[in-house]
Amino acid sequence: MKMSGSAPDARPSAKLDRAVIFLGPPGAGKGTQAQDLARRYGVPHLSTGDMLRENIAKGTPLGAKAKPLMERGELVPDSLVLKMVAARIERPDCSHGFVFDGFPRTVAQAQYLGELLKQHGFRQPVVIHFAIDPALLMRRITGRRMCKVGGEIYNVFERPPKLQGKCDYDGGELEQRPDDREEVVAPRLQAYQKQTAPLVAYYRRLGRLREVDAAKSVDEVARRVLEVVDGTR
Ligand code: AP5
Repeated sequence: MKMSGSAPDARPSAKLDRAVIFLGPPGAGKGTQAQDLARRYGVPHLSTGDMLRENIAKGTPLGAKAKPLMERGELVPDSLVLKMVAARIERPDCSHGFVFDGFPRTVAQAQYLGELLKQHGFRQPVVIHFAIDPALLMRRITGRRMCKVGGEIYNVFERPPKLQGKCDYDGGELEQRPDDREEVVAPRLQAYQKQTAPLVAYYRRLGRLREVDAAKSVDEVARRVLEVVDGTR
């Protein structure tokens, strides 16, 4: 996947050899940054949201279970998500690390991931918390449009495509995610506060948490993310 907008100075990808976890509320910019970071290091960008949407698009049994929950802004049960993630990181492209975006999202998922990483011989993950004033999120979420072909992320207010409704990279049609409608945003934010925000304290206690100011521009956030990841390699 490519990222819209300019990226900070391109560098040859170095080895990552660990998991990087992006933690933060809906619309904080995790996907935008994960696409870029994963490309830089030549490792997969593992978005559990994208994986679930793919299952929905393909009409799989997992997709059928996930669809109504996602449309209401609720989390998909741990048991389903964990099975999906465990199968994904078995694949050979994950052997040098990966960037998680939207996973883990509950303490049970984080505990399971810790075990999984140990089993696969990975070092402790770097967890980057996207800290942001919730007041900024509604505009980012309702303005988001995604390319149907490559998943490129745009924003009609902040990062519009050159041609309205078309992806800059592949000309694909841009669409709004069903859960980006204004009425679904509040339950998503509530689910985050209740089930996912406790992971900030969880990873802080483990000494794994790093913060970025996600209110800054895409390029500034990208620079800070790189600083953090490079500084912990
Ligand atoms: P998921 O797809 O993971 O969505 P999310 O976590 O709610 O996060 P978003 O994709 O909304 O936001 P983002 O932080 O990636 O922001 P983005 O970079 O796109 O999950 C969807 C659903 O799937 C969940 O509700 C749940 O039902 C289910 N699910 C997924 N994982 C699960 C799990 N582990 N367990 C259980 N259920 C799970 O940016 C947003 C917008 O802002 C874009 O338009 C972008 O262009 C713009 N933007 C980005 N950065 C900036 C910036 N710095 N300045 C200005 N604009 C910016």
